[in-house]
Amino acid sequence: ERAPLIDPFARPITYLRVSVTDRCDFRCTYCMAEHMQFLPKKELLTLEELDRLCTAFIDLGVRKLRITGGEPLVRRDIMTFFKGISRHLDSGALSELTLTTNGSQLARFAPDLAALGMRRINVSLDTLVPEKFAAITRWGRLDQVLEGIAAAKRAGLRVKINAVALKGFNEDELFPLIEWCGAEGHDLTFIEVMPMGEMGEEMRLDQYWPLSDVRARMRERFTLTELDESTGGPARYVRLEETGQKIGFITPLTHNFCESCNRVRVTCTGELFMCLGQEDNADLRAPLRAHPDNNEPLREAIRAAISRKPKGHDFDYSRQKVAGQMSRHMSHTGG
Ligand code: GTP
Ligand code: 5AD
Ligand code: SF4
Repeated sequence: ERAPLIDPFARPITYLRVSVTDRCDFRCTYCMAEHMQFLPKKELLTLEELDRLCTAFIDLGVRKLRITGGEPLVRRDIMTFFKGISRHLDSGALSELTLTTNGSQLARFAPDLAALGMRRINVSLDTLVPEKFAAITRWGRLDQVLEGIAAAKRAGLRVKINAVALKGFNEDELFPLIEWCGAEGHDLTFIEVMPMGEMGEEMRLDQYWPLSDVRARMRERFTLTELDESTGGPARYVRLEETGQKIGFITPLTHNFCESCNRVRVTCTGELFMCLGQEDNADLRAPLRAHPDNNEPLREAIRAAISRKPKGHDFDYSRQKVAGQMSRHMSHTGG
């Protein structure tokens, strides 16, 4: 067994999230600006570099790898990367290889993803109303995403739906989302909106729907039992006794989960962010490119960075003011 990376707060780092592109075919309003300046191709890690980078982390004890973006499935030839990296699943070095996606390309890719050993995926879906879906994504087509989700299910992938809880937007869809996921057999996780990107303060406060309120609303209709299990991510889960469904809550604002953090993230240009809610990062592209045949300098850069992983984020909406706001868009670090 590989010895895991341990950070200054004694947290083992076993979960890596890698963004393979800053691009996306949607522009969710809480994630991106309408007009984004995307990176030129030469800035991006190549597929070979991405493979070396993930392999270095796996050598250092990472057991769970989640590919994110932007939208990971719009990266050219991404299946070549997935096929290559899945060797670490076959060898048992990785226990999970997975993906967070907006679902738009799933109809095309789901069978291949399942074939290479992926077992579950997370799909972002905040509403089941076509017009609202087009508004929040700025132009996305709901039917395309629903087809993608259906294809994933047919291919045998478990699907977890991620819904960002947005006041005045999907409050009225709490029960429809729960019912639809129940009927389709998907897990469902709600997420508190985090203050990232250049959107104004008022907009954040207007949209913020604390999951403590969401839970209270759910209790009016269901009996909630806290579960002890984890998927290795930040969600805490409850079971609805009436339907048996499992519902997750990701609550960076109302219930900080940083103390059990087990993860770091790398952007598509090779910046290693030790925390989603902090600016500090380390350049991994430099050691990758300076030493094309030797991963040790890369591993050394990773160890050095982990040794300064911060305790947690500074997001806070209390006192009617947004604290910890980051100018970086969520699409930059992939959530
Ligand atoms: P599971 O493997 O299913 O547990 O997935 P996950 O929750 O780790 O991944 P997913 O990509 O579905 O992330 C869902 C949401 O959690 C995204 O909005 C992320 O931004 C948020 N999230 C994940 N990790 C962190 C974290 O370390 N800090 C904060 N504040 N949010 C996080
Ligand atoms: N706050 C919370 N979640 C966000 N996501 C994107 N931007 C934000 C934000 N500002 C979510 C997406 C997706 C996941 C990767 O991150 O909906 O489910
Ligand atoms: Fe694209 Fe996902 Fe960001 Fe929406 S949340 S713009 S689908 S990366």
